[in-house]
Amino acid sequence: VGAQTTVKISEPEDEVIISKHIYGHFSEHLGRCIYDGLYVGQESAIPNQDGVRSDIIDALIDLKIPNLRWPGGCFADTYHWKDGVGPREDRPTMVNRWWGGVTEDNSFGTHDFLNLCETLGAEPYLAANVGSSSVQEFTEYVEYVLHKGGSPMAEWRKEHGREKPWAVKYWGVGNEMWGCGGNMTAEHYANVYRQYATFMTDWTNSDGLFRIASGANVDDYHWTEVLMRDIPKSLIEGVALHSYSFVEWNEKGSSVDYSEEQYFSTMKTALMMDELIVNHTAIMDKYDPENEIALVVDEWGGWYEVMEGTNPGFLYQQNTMRDAMIAGTTLNIFNNHADRVKMANLAQTVNVLQAVVLTEGEKMLLTPTYHVMKMYNVHQDATLLPVSFDGPTYEFEGESLPAISASASKNKDGEVHVSLVNIDAHKSHTVNLSVEQFGAKNLTGTILSSKDLQDHNSFESPEMIAPKELKSIKVKKGVVEIELPPFSVLVLKAE
Ligand code: AHR
Repeated sequence: VGAQTTVKISEPEDEVIISKHIYGHFSEHLGRCIYDGLYVGQESAIPNQDGVRSDIIDALIDLKIPNLRWPGGCFADTYHWKDGVGPREDRPTMVNRWWGGVTEDNSFGTHDFLNLCETLGAEPYLAANVGSSSVQEFTEYVEYVLHKGGSPMAEWRKEHGREKPWAVKYWGVGNEMWGCGGNMTAEHYANVYRQYATFMTDWTNSDGLFRIASGANVDDYHWTEVLMRDIPKSLIEGVALHSYSFVEWNEKGSSVDYSEEQYFSTMKTALMMDELIVNHTAIMDKYDPENEIALVVDEWGGWYEVMEGTNPGFLYQQNTMRDAMIAGTTLNIFNNHADRVKMANLAQTVNVLQAVVLTEGEKMLLTPTYHVMKMYNVHQDATLLPVSFDGPTYEFEGESLPAISASASKNKDGEVHVSLVNIDAHKSHTVNLSVEQFGAKNLTGTILSSKDLQDHNSFESPEMIAPKELKSIKVKKGVVEIELPPFSVLVLKAE
């Protein structure tokens, strides 16, 4: 058993809302994320709504998925949207050059995606092609999706069966433009961005567009500096950032059979997210002291070797308690930086990287990451409450990491939620939480823990890891004493 830690939760000086969009997801045309994942087609024996699996739809609605980014990733800058609209039998095929070289038949296209978002009650985030597109193709896409009628693209949309425009606010102007999006320099991309953004119009004149510039790779601070310096504020609403967690980029290791050393390294990269946000934010503050441009972490999550026997280009991996630790700590980091981080997207929803859902034929399972995302959805659109504590460390072979991570919020009904993570692989730690100032009468909680770090849900045992309710937690003189087992996530509710 480890140390005792007192976590202090304060009333905020300035109100910061934790945007629900921090809890966003990302689905790329990659491996079995869309095809043989989300989308099985109308003819499938697997129950579906317009070709999308009904069990996944239910799971994502339950998760309160706020937004979904699509169609990439690297795929986005190879994607020609016109190939994915109109009668399926007339749609051309293409080769998915980044992901396994498989044939993409374009059977899941823009209508399917945007209709799915409506079903899910999630806002679509379209990552549109810049790298191999043109300003014309791009702006026609905006017109096709958003124009009410009387324009060539709106009429074409209507011919394809959709009368009303969709409500699409979030638009990514390319993806990873420093790499698969075109290997551009920051200076070149900033100019390209200005050109594309100039011709983007909010045809519906509703909520306005939210244009997101393709952002830095991890700690490429020069990238953020150039975009912030060279793009006029009138043309941009968000700057992205991508950062994955892994053991080592060139030796990622198994997603299931990993050592403690590999776990420790993975958590080191995951916790780096805090430093990355602080440093990118400092640059943004310099050019945007009014805090009008959002930092959008539109790709994050754990990345390991693919499961044995699967296509290396499909990025299919298992999801263990290590992933629950990544999710819990990363979401706490996002919550605590909610003044600048207004949106984030976990990579990726189904069967790819740190997925929330895995499928095998007609079977589907929810991963530990799904459970953490669901436990944390109580923070969506709640007011951030600052937390402070001097916590214990998790030691491994002479190195140390903070063992405890925490964030807290108060929702519109006055309920306070505190999410706590203990990443220590061996020790429990006790947290003393002062809840007196909130006048909490009733305290309940949900915990996710397991016997072994490598534990995961499999198709043979799909509910091995599931959250457990903690009822009637005792409050003594306004303080709650709670034990966090090794590698566990806990969300408390005080009302
Ligand atoms: O999520 C997988 C890939 O990672 C995305 O396609 C790309 O944007 C990133 O490099």
